[in-house]
Amino acid sequence: MNKELKILAVVVFFTGLLYWGVEPYAHHAMHAKYDGQGNEIKIESHGFVYDGTTEANVNGVIVADLERKVMEEGSPEPKAVLAAKLAAAKDIQSKKASFWKEVGTIAELKGDATAGEAGFASCMGCHNGLNMNMGGVIPPNLDHAGALYDKNYLIALLKDPAMASNVDHKYADTSMHPMGSIKGTMSHQQIADVVAFMKEKKAAEPTAKQAFMEACVRCHAMRYDKVTQLGEAPKTKENIKTGHDIEAMKYAQKVAEEQATLATYMGKLPPDLSMIIRARSGHFMETFIEDPQTQLPGTSMPRVGLSEEGYEKVHQYLMDIGDPSKPARDIAAPWVLGFFVIFTILAYLWKRHQWKDLH
Ligand code: HEC
Ligand code: HEC
Repeated sequence: MNKELKILAVVVFFTGLLYWGVEPYAHHAMHAKYDGQGNEIKIESHGFVYDGTTEANVNGVIVADLERKVMEEGSPEPKAVLAAKLAAAKDIQSKKASFWKEVGTIAELKGDATAGEAGFASCMGCHNGLNMNMGGVIPPNLDHAGALYDKNYLIALLKDPAMASNVDHKYADTSMHPMGSIKGTMSHQQIADVVAFMKEKKAAEPTAKQAFMEACVRCHAMRYDKVTQLGEAPKTKENIKTGHDIEAMKYAQKVAEEQATLATYMGKLPPDLSMIIRARSGHFMETFIEDPQTQLPGTSMPRVGLSEEGYEKVHQYLMDIGDPSKPARDIAAPWVLGFFVIFTILAYLWKRHQWKDLH
């Protein structure tokens, strides 16, 4: 008996050590990122607060890295090239800082929702639900935008869409962004008014699926839920005599065309997200959605600007589709564990019974 207990204790000890001691650090300790000086870069969530902190961190690391390279002897790149890169990086750093400072001042204005309604109507020229590609991508439905996106982020977006979503590095002039034509067209007060209107607009709470459809589907398909970049795939039928489903073929062609335009705009086709929730940790997803640049510097995926509640909805949908059996597993787990406990006790009692004459 004693011997078995000892073996059990050893197994329990090492399992616990792996589970609590090693696994939680597998991501940030074993796949740590370092800046130029060998300091670990901790990628942290900022609770979906948009105030320029994540960009200050990202740009700070880039600048520090270039500063070190400029000083270093024998670097493979010529000093003049490095110095020019450093100057450009510092320029971006200060532009971002003053941009977010201005966003902060607009955020303090009191927005008038009634006045904002007219301004919001002008957005419908593009956000019209017609599924028409504009400059690379289909403008999303804004039905629940006020509930999905953070207030500060919306202010920043209306001021300069490319700067807000951290894809300014893709444009020589940020007015070239597909929504860039609104840049500079609204006064600070008008921006505050439109955002106040969006935040107040009485739309029902979005469902998890609506959140995903509005925030992500213009770029990402969700094959396991029959969702493409054009939205929900229509139900079609084969012709009984020919075995062909012409409607489905026509739809597939439209999707392929949309994807081609999107891939040109983004530089690559954004991946299908059906299984992403199993491939990536919660920490990765949260920090990546909050600002893709923290995990993939230079990536063309824009920051989406979700509020915390908006992110939770999107996350819920990714779980519903990518891991649909999780709720059932959660319910079954205590029963299965209970069964094993009872079974162990019975097995032990049985063993005692069988061996009692021999000991
Ligand atoms: C010229 C067309 C155009 C106009 C006008 C326009 N938008 Fe957009 N908007 C777009 C496009 C295109 C996108 C998608 C851009 C992308 O994903 O790269 C977009 C994206 C958005 C998003 C999602 C952004 C994100 O980062 O998640 C919101 C919210 C939004 N627009 C709100 C507005 C509001 C509010 C107005 C009016 C004040 C407006 N838009 C005016 C074209 C437009
Ligand atoms: C305007 C287009 C666009 C929108 C909107 C968008 N994404 Fe992306 N996303 C991309 C592109 C492009 C990539 C590929 C990035 C790369 O490889 O550089 C990507 C990659 C990703 C990845 C994969 C990261 C990895 O390599 O593991 C995830 C996860 C992701 N997006 C989630 C989302 C979610 C969730 C939303 C909605 C909240 C969203 N995206 C909205 C364009 C977009």
